[in-house]
Amino acid sequence: MTKEDFKVTPWEVKGNIDYDRLIKEFGVTKIDSKLLKRIEKHTKEIHFMLSRGVFFANRDLNWLLDEFEKGNKFFLYTGRGPSGKIQLGHLQTWYFVKWLQDKFGVELYFQFTDDEKFLFKESSYEEIQKWTHDNMLDVIAVGFDPKKTHFIVDTKHAGLLYPEAIKFAKKINFSTLKGAFGFTNENNIGQIFYTSMQAVPAILPSVIAKKNIPCLIPLAIDQDPHFRVARDVYPKLGFYKPSILHGMFLPPLTGVDGKMSSSEINSAIFSTDSPKEVETKIKKYAFSGGRDTLEEHRKLGGNPDVDVSFQYLKFFFEEDDKKLKKIHDDYKSGKLLSGELKQITIEKINAFLKEHQNRREKAEKEIDKFMYKA
Ligand code: TRP
Repeated sequence: MTKEDFKVTPWEVKGNIDYDRLIKEFGVTKIDSKLLKRIEKHTKEIHFMLSRGVFFANRDLNWLLDEFEKGNKFFLYTGRGPSGKIQLGHLQTWYFVKWLQDKFGVELYFQFTDDEKFLFKESSYEEIQKWTHDNMLDVIAVGFDPKKTHFIVDTKHAGLLYPEAIKFAKKINFSTLKGAFGFTNENNIGQIFYTSMQAVPAILPSVIAKKNIPCLIPLAIDQDPHFRVARDVYPKLGFYKPSILHGMFLPPLTGVDGKMSSSEINSAIFSTDSPKEVETKIKKYAFSGGRDTLEEHRKLGGNPDVDVSFQYLKFFFEEDDKKLKKIHDDYKSGKLLSGELKQITIEKINAFLKEHQNRREKAEKEIDKFMYKA
């Protein structure tokens, strides 16, 4: 598959994604150094996922900061469609969201779209409920502030969401959705309605407070089409347009194309994987940018840009820019071998997962604290 035929929709991501082209097609704005400096003024440091361009684009972030500087605090909104295990790609976004919450001291609304996964997947309603519960444990393990974090489960908070969702739905016709999502006459009618549900948390705090509150939605860029629709509709209903911060996809084990996905077993490392499983997956499946033979590798060097282990370090697991650069340069020069790079990555991921899993084990009894209560 060439760069020409990559695909990015909320329900399908494949191919070698050309992010610059996506910026144009989606009509989003690249984050430049001026905007980074502006963020840093408030956060005092710049997260490596921002400086390395893992979070690379935005909508109206400057406006959000204008409001913030006037004393009009924003809230964060993100979510999860609970249809399977949590993998590293999800965690990568959420650990960044936690950083935002800590640095700006803001509320977070976290939506679990059990309705979405029921409507779009083959799974039964009961299975989806099981995953909703399971996935909550991971979100809690990220370490969000329970006093400032509110879980919204679409089918459980339906009474809260539905009045807003229908107001939203009334402003959109089917042909708009066909354009935004590529829907056809064969889509079930729940799928057609669904975007109205995902839109609601972006204005819910404003509805509750009876005044407009700016909203920032950090997401992987495949979710942007929902909010492109929402940004058209909300001003018509008297609300602000939500601001968006777009992230790239953590690559699957099998190579830098597409995204890590829970539904493809050999593509993903899960939040609950054991150290041994992580080791096996990286050793066996992580696509290597190294050369075929030791001699060639020493002579010509490896390619960190296509090496999945290196990409994991860059996206998520090696926070230290100096260390990352040394790994990059040593790999490229042939000094560092593929097996050695994999070993570094295995150790980093396992150290991270050990902490995450410890917190995950204690998360069960926290669920109630996180649930939104009117
Ligand atoms: N649709 C998302 C998924 O499939 C879940 C989600 C709901 C979400 N609201 C969101 C993701 C807001 C990002 C931002 O996982």
